[in-house]
Amino acid sequence: MAVFSRRIPAEFGSNRLTRALEAARKRGSIVDLTESNPTRAGFAADPTHLATLLAAPEAVRYDPDPRGWIGARRAVVEYYGRRGRIVDEDRIVLTSSTSEAYALLFKLLCNASDEVLVPAPSYPLFEFLASAECVIAAPYQLTFDGRRWGIELPELERALTSRSRAIVVVAPNNPTGSVLTADDLEAVMRLCRDNGLVLICDEVFADYPHDLPARFVPTPYDGEGAVVFTLNGLSKVAGLPQLKLGWIVASGDDRAICGVLTRLEFLSDLYLSVGTPIQRCLPALLDIAPSIQESIRGALSANLRTLRAAVADTALSVLPVEAGWTAVVRAPRIFDDETFALKLLEEESTLVQPGYFYDFEEDGYLVLSLLTPPAVFAEGVQRLEAFVVNLCKRS
Ligand SMILES: Cc1ncc(COP(=O)(O)O)c(C=O)c1O
Repeated sequence: MAVFSRRIPAEFGSNRLTRALEAARKRGSIVDLTESNPTRAGFAADPTHLATLLAAPEAVRYDPDPRGWIGARRAVVEYYGRRGRIVDEDRIVLTSSTSEAYALLFKLLCNASDEVLVPAPSYPLFEFLASAECVIAAPYQLTFDGRRWGIELPELERALTSRSRAIVVVAPNNPTGSVLTADDLEAVMRLCRDNGLVLICDEVFADYPHDLPARFVPTPYDGEGAVVFTLNGLSKVAGLPQLKLGWIVASGDDRAICGVLTRLEFLSDLYLSVGTPIQRCLPALLDIAPSIQESIRGALSANLRTLRAAVADTALSVLPVEAGWTAVVRAPRIFDDETFALKLLEEESTLVQPGYFYDFEEDGYLVLSLLTPPAVFAEGVQRLEAFVVNLCKRS
């Protein structure tokens, strides 16, 4: 038998929920409240328009730049300009996705067994993205104070070791929808400055605000004594994950950044993974992004209203959603989250994500995708509500 590296998981068995989902689909159709793929959620681009954009005649020539075609990087600068942020075209590196950006940054910053601090609950892929680069993802807990999920210095310090190289923040976070306030950012920057760490900020949901808190700090952050990498891409900015284009924006003082960019460029040059056609049509795609975002925002807000109305006066509650594509629902802790999701699937043919997928510290959390088509969403939350009403009667 082949011997595989420890970068990848030892086991690839399916989990109970995946098996139950297969069984439920065989029995009939299910109501899926987890759809987060915009191309399946009713936001697929017009095929003729997309084909026309991708057919740029310049794309027949191969003239690679490891940071990405300058015209594409300028389009990223304009995108930030529309958000009221100033970034420098020479401090942008294009990637094929945000996930690839993480891989490049972990290679840039970490030796084998070095650590990056990652938030919990958050994006479930961190552990695997880090492990694939021989890096350890060390979680720091976000704390919910009854109003919002914040970052506290003691939690960061608890996760810090002599092998820590970077702190990852996800702002807005998936799935808590929380952004960073000035206090959160101060805690993170203080730790970065005091310990020579780099800040990696994943802002892929930045274009989807709902109820931003007072003292919210917009991304990209300036740096102030630390190097900051900001990650984003077409998957969320334009609802076009299939086109595979992301970017890294580096901020920080000029001397520090110069060495960083030389090395990042070296790594990017090893792969040159971003295709020419997508780079050439990035300016046009970022021009149409605002209208795509507007229709996505319309669905997100409609679903959030539906959810809040459906759970009013029930044993369910919706946690505040500051931004993003997900809503976190608190459910009665009669079972653990996995059992709750399994029973909901069995009894109401409705799929939600249990909180443990995202490393919530305790049971009682369900995650719903607000990107779900509104009619499906309305049906699903009605079934969720009926399930909980029955559950409370029975227990
Ligand atoms: C917080 C977060 N970061 C990154 C990604 C991946 O983005 P990309 O498609 O650019 O790799 C996702 C995907 O859902 C995400 O939720």
